[in-house]
Amino acid sequence: MKRAIPCLAATMLALGAWLGSSVTACASSTQAAPIHYDAGRRTFRIDAGKITYAFGVNGNGALQTLYWGARLMANDPLPTAAPPAPRSSFDPAGANTPQEYAGWGGPITVMPDLKVHFADGNRDLVLRYDSYRIVDGTLMVTLRDKQAGVSVVLDYAVDANTGIIGRSARIENHATQAVTLDRVAAASWNLPPATDYSLRYLTGTWAGEWHLRTRPLTPGATELESRRGSTGDENNPWFAIGRGAEWNESRGRVWFGALAWSGSWSIHIDQDVLSQVRVTGGYNPFDFAYQLEPGQSLDTPVFYAGYTDDGIGEASRLMHQFERSRILPAHAQLKLRPVLYNSWEATEFKVDEAGQERLAEKAAALGVERFVVDDGWFGARNSDHAGLGDWTVNREKFPNGLKPLIDKVHGLGMSFGLWVEPEMVNPDSDLYRKHPDWVLNFDGRQRSLGRNQLVLNLARDDVSEHIFHVLDDLLSHNDIQFLKWDYNRNWSEPGWPQQTPEQQQKVYVTYVQHLYDIIRRLRERHLGLEIESCSGGGARVDLGIMSLTDEVWPSDNTDPSDRLSIQDGFSYAYAPAVMMAWVTGSPNWVNGRSSSLDFRFLSSMQGGLGIGANILQWTPAEDATARGYIAAYKDIRATVQLGRLYRLLSPQERAPHSATESVATDGRQAVLFAFLRQGQEAQAYPTLYLQGLDETARYRYRLIHGKAANGTPEVASGAYWMHRGIDLELRGDMDAAAAVFERIGKVANGSR
Ligand code: GLA
Repeated sequence: MKRAIPCLAATMLALGAWLGSSVTACASSTQAAPIHYDAGRRTFRIDAGKITYAFGVNGNGALQTLYWGARLMANDPLPTAAPPAPRSSFDPAGANTPQEYAGWGGPITVMPDLKVHFADGNRDLVLRYDSYRIVDGTLMVTLRDKQAGVSVVLDYAVDANTGIIGRSARIENHATQAVTLDRVAAASWNLPPATDYSLRYLTGTWAGEWHLRTRPLTPGATELESRRGSTGDENNPWFAIGRGAEWNESRGRVWFGALAWSGSWSIHIDQDVLSQVRVTGGYNPFDFAYQLEPGQSLDTPVFYAGYTDDGIGEASRLMHQFERSRILPAHAQLKLRPVLYNSWEATEFKVDEAGQERLAEKAAALGVERFVVDDGWFGARNSDHAGLGDWTVNREKFPNGLKPLIDKVHGLGMSFGLWVEPEMVNPDSDLYRKHPDWVLNFDGRQRSLGRNQLVLNLARDDVSEHIFHVLDDLLSHNDIQFLKWDYNRNWSEPGWPQQTPEQQQKVYVTYVQHLYDIIRRLRERHLGLEIESCSGGGARVDLGIMSLTDEVWPSDNTDPSDRLSIQDGFSYAYAPAVMMAWVTGSPNWVNGRSSSLDFRFLSSMQGGLGIGANILQWTPAEDATARGYIAAYKDIRATVQLGRLYRLLSPQERAPHSATESVATDGRQAVLFAFLRQGQEAQAYPTLYLQGLDETARYRYRLIHGKAANGTPEVASGAYWMHRGIDLELRGDMDAAAAVFERIGKVANGSR
């Protein structure tokens, strides 16, 4: 696999020459040099964005974290690396060293990054500093256990704007015998010792993803993980850690990060006996084994992390900026999400040419820009019991293939999208009847079904080639602009009987490598193709899949009230630029809750707007409402999708009030959304204080929907909107409002 840091590495600052003992390694016209090596002290220092990160080689030759936090002054001294003093015979010298990347060997008690066993029975691995180099702006530090013949090359790729660092490792077997990797992390992030840390993380389930949870970090370990074969939604591979009670939305030190991997993963957070906190992320060691023959190597995914002094809100904004500029495929970075129509909730599997054409005509008339045909268009797919795997157009539903519908959609001025679930197969399918050995399974054992389907073993070359060619053919013969790429179950019985027992567990790595490779090749061959990552909702959202796709489906739950919490949770880790949100029917199918079309639109306008209702049943009045919102959305979507997001009132824990604000990157526009799930007695809606405006600029406000208190000025300064705030009149149950603030110039004399 190519190392998964291409965007970051490509935009890294150019390197200067290495001179003398204190060297400036990188420089650009606008940024201070980000990487310095002090050969006298044997320390590396990275300065980027508002952070400094430093590590050094200690007297034992171990690579030890020295500092990770707010930016230090250029001449501030850094200590030379020295391991913590031994505390007792149970914590001897070297046991607790906060190593950058630790092998399990010697006396260590910190969580190792790499644990191995050799063919001869040895399991001891002591990694010591060997050398460094800088390639295309990425610092590469080599560690080695000379006797064992194992090297690890650590990569540090730095984003100069956000200060987010991407770290990964390459494990190389230089020995004359095979080595099996039992546990492989991408990196460990060491935080300064403290006893008052708390952890925020995301958890959920199908139709209930993205709940934000907080728990204190106490001595012992916390494991965020997926053992499901894919990213999963039980936990998401993202974390944020802050100090004590002092951190909130806009204040406090926050260390945060995310792992770019779409297979089973683990982020292990450990507070040790010295109150040191270590965050180790990589492949999930559960059921993991990866054997390297002599001369072979393995690249890990990238574990990204950042730091801010300015609370979890700023941590999210740094992540959003980083994702948009460094993770998303280049052509997706500045592209706005088109308004989309998808009939899944309206028609389910009952798709056919005439019905889809009627929907397309109506959608276009409402202002929709992309029309997507969901499940049911192929094979014998009339329910979820059959057809998956047979990617040929169902001629009963589309007698002349997809072309007439695609032409119609294009003629209406919309792009065309199609649902696929390429990694799966129904036992009742031609593909499975022909290739029953293509699925994950253990010889002779039961094959557990999920949604009546099995998982194709993409780790097999023949299977992944088949999937690539099927999709390549589909895209070559049909003028398709967009694929909704679904993935609707977990792994079970993850055997690979065609491999030797020693090689079978590579499936956890090779499957995902092949998945990435298929998508990369499709994108290379079909330039401009856009892809949505969907997994029964939001079960495959991570920075790995995001680097190859354009948008994600956060949840099958389209209830606009539940969506407020789902979208809020999502926004801690991921950018609104990729978050799709549909307006669907009322009452909602998930929970039977009724809501107005206004509430549904405003909830969905917080991300990439889609329509998923049966629009053929809408009344003329509803059509007019929809047309109005879609037009309004097009005016604000650059701000919503690409702007700086401020969470003003949190909808978590089913809070009645919630509000968000997005400020355009050029500062010209701010968009405010406010929601009331359930009014209480005669209480007024809380005053909303805007953020991120220019105090000395004047802003004209207008409502997209809702009512502001009498006396709200039409024009006022940024200072006014941020400090006096705005009072919106939201009442009753399920009420919503939205307002736009346009910057119209500077305050007359610029003074208070
Ligand atoms: C999954 C997706 C839905 C829809 C169905 C189709 O559940 O999350 O949006 O595409 O599959 O079967």
